[in-house]
Parts: sequence; C-alpha cells; structure tokens
Amino acid sequence: KVADIKGTRQGKLTLGVITTAKYFVPRLLGAFCQQYPGIDIALQVTNHQKLQERMLNNEDDLYILSQPPEEVELCSQSFLENPLVVVARRDHPLVGQKNLPLECLNQQPFIMRESGSGTRQAVQKLFNLHDIKVKVRLELGSNEAIKQAISGGLGLSVLSKHTLISEGENGELAILDLEHFPIQRDWYVCYLAGKQLSVIADAFLKYLLEASQTIPIHAPLKNGHSLLMSH
Ligand code: PGA
Repeated sequence: KVADIKGTRQGKLTLGVITTAKYFVPRLLGAFCQQYPGIDIALQVTNHQKLQERMLNNEDDLYILSQPPEEVELCSQSFLENPLVVVARRDHPLVGQKNLPLECLNQQPFIMRESGSGTRQAVQKLFNLHDIKVKVRLELGSNEAIKQAISGGLGLSVLSKHTLISEGENGELAILDLEHFPIQRDWYVCYLAGKQLSVIADAFLKYLLEASQTIPIHAPLKNGHSLLMSH
C-alpha cells in the first residue's frame, strides 16, 4: 500500500476489463501513467464470464464491464455508453437502407461471440424475444477476428460500437440501421463491495470518471453509411 502517492508514486494497479474496453482503457492508462510514472499496472482483458470468475477470486482492484453480475456484491458506477450495433460489409444489400425491421436478420449468415460473452448474451436475448433466427456460420472469441470475418464476407455480426473506433467513414465495414438497434448499454467501473481501494486504485477510478467525460462516441447512425466515430 502506498502511503502517499504524490510522494512515492509507487505501487501496483490491477485491472480486469471486458474485451471492448481495450479500445479505450490502454490509451487512458498512458495519460494516467504520465502522472504516476512509478506505478506498475496489470491489465487483464477478457469476457464477462471470466471477469466474474476473477471477481469471485478477488483478483483485481477495479473492473470495467457492461453487465455487472447480480451474483457479486459490487460498488458500480456507469461512466460511458457502450451501444451494440449490427455490422455488415459495406457492399451488403442492407447497407444504406433506413429503419429496417428486425426480421431482416432472419436467415442471415451471422458471426457470434463465444459463450460467456456479454455481447452474445445481449444479442441472444433480443433475438429470442423477437423470435429472430440467424444462421450462425461461426463463433469467434475476438471482436477483431469478427471484424475480419465480416470483411471476408462470412456474414453480419453485432459488436460494440467501440470496436469500430479505427474504422474510416468509408471503410469496409458499415453499421445497419435496424429497429431495436443500437442496443443501449453502458460501461461500468466496479469494485468488490467492502473492499478498501488502494490509493492508486482510488486515484485511477477518479481519473477514469473524469477522463471518460471527454470521449465522444455519439456517432449519428443515419442511413447506415457512416461510422463517424471521431476520437
Ligand atoms: P464481452 O463484453 O466481451 O463479454 O462480450 C463486451 C461488451 O459488453 O461490450
């Protein structure tokens, strides 16, 4: 434990974050480390289910995820939107059409995240609710691999908009304009209830809540053509 972070600037910070937070947290850590150059950081990037296991073993100081598990007693605070969107290759016939009904997805070739993924859970819940049956061609445990598979013509998928942060406005991938999308969710930062946060973890928590206010992800989804996610 660091008694006075401003004096010693040493200590360790362990973070467990879901797969989509890797598009955001490492960048933030860069600026944080400039303020506290002496600290060591361990960052684990994994899906919701594995993060819940890490929580049960009290492995990390802080967690970033979009669906805090009910089974674990947590202090949580939401800090940034994390919408899920339907992503297609730009030459897909549905790209550019407006207000498509959800039924358009029926029988579409689809790439699904692995079991244990919160993205998958949210997608399955919506599809079950509306009795949508996609043709799952492939299951992949990586958002980046899914983007490559979409580009390769294997089908559509549902991804967090944050995964598209480096895609150009006229790049290979496009967001479809479908009813019930985007699925609105937030990122939460959490720690185990009753856990005494270290000075560094507390400093990072405050930094995260403040710095995330300056991140724009509110891209208009008009006509399905633009990703427009400036950073
Ligand atoms: P997942 O979470 O990696 O468990 O799918 C990602 C997200 O909810 O944004």
